[in-house]
Amino acid sequence: MLRLESVYLRLKNGSEEVPILENINLDLEDNKFYALTGPNGGGKTSLAKVIMGIYKNDEGRIYLDGKDITDFSITERAKAGISYAFQNPPRFKGLKIKDLLKISADENSLRAILRSVGLCPQDYLDRECDSGLSGGEMKRIELASVLARPSRLVIYDEPEAGVDLWSFENLLQLIRNYHKRGNVTSVVITHHERVLSLADEIILLVDGKIADRGSRDKILPLIQEDARCCWKANCGGNNDEVECY
Ligand SMILES: Nc1ncnc2c1ncn2[C@@H]1O[C@H](COP(=O)(O)OP(=O)(O)OP(=O)(O)O)[C@@H](O)[C@H]1O
Ligand SMILES: [Mg+2]
Repeated sequence: MLRLESVYLRLKNGSEEVPILENINLDLEDNKFYALTGPNGGGKTSLAKVIMGIYKNDEGRIYLDGKDITDFSITERAKAGISYAFQNPPRFKGLKIKDLLKISADENSLRAILRSVGLCPQDYLDRECDSGLSGGEMKRIELASVLARPSRLVIYDEPEAGVDLWSFENLLQLIRNYHKRGNVTSVVITHHERVLSLADEIILLVDGKIADRGSRDKILPLIQEDARCCWKANCGGNNDEVECY
């Protein structure tokens, strides 16, 4: 349903352009539940932003259900059915939570939507989406706004980040229930073993490249093996500064 062909992304780091994604070729199938994982800085969020149209890829093409969407804007991609729940949801000073949710949800369902993510409507509907909300509260509101509308492809960027362990299992259940309704492909960017263990397929992104992909039975042991041996700071190829514990 989603196809990326030879996608490259370069971004400015000061005056220099640095490669962020290199030669990404990726096919996602209908109705599959994917986990996208890999080390910090590997390019997961950048890849999600390229798919959502927040970053414009420098090379390559992107297709959704066979249609070339490479030149689509963010709004056109959203209308085509792509949704992205940010790793760090943006805050909107002056915008009330109820007004943010109304963008994707029917007015009569706002209370139920907030309750579904564990927030009491009377405490939150009239609050502003500003820095007064905690990280975990903002993640829940972001999730609520994504789950309130139908999508063909949803990318959740680290839904576990900032969410307490007691709530995380419930939020994960919401994501799973949304997926089970069908006609949607889910990609969860995650570092959480619990999410990896639920995925139909795991995609491993390292240094801006797809290092591996496959069933969880194939990929999970590789990740666990890697994590045991490699915790390293690779400073521009200077081997004196590479340490493995
Ligand atoms: N707007 C930007 N300008 C310059 N560099 C960027 C920008 N966005 C991301 N990068 C760089 O691109 C690389 C990939 O970042 P990205 O956020 O995609 O990684 P990630 O895999 O999501 O990491 P994490 O697991 O920490 O969330 C990093 O080196 C990051 O510093
Ligand atoms: Mg990220």
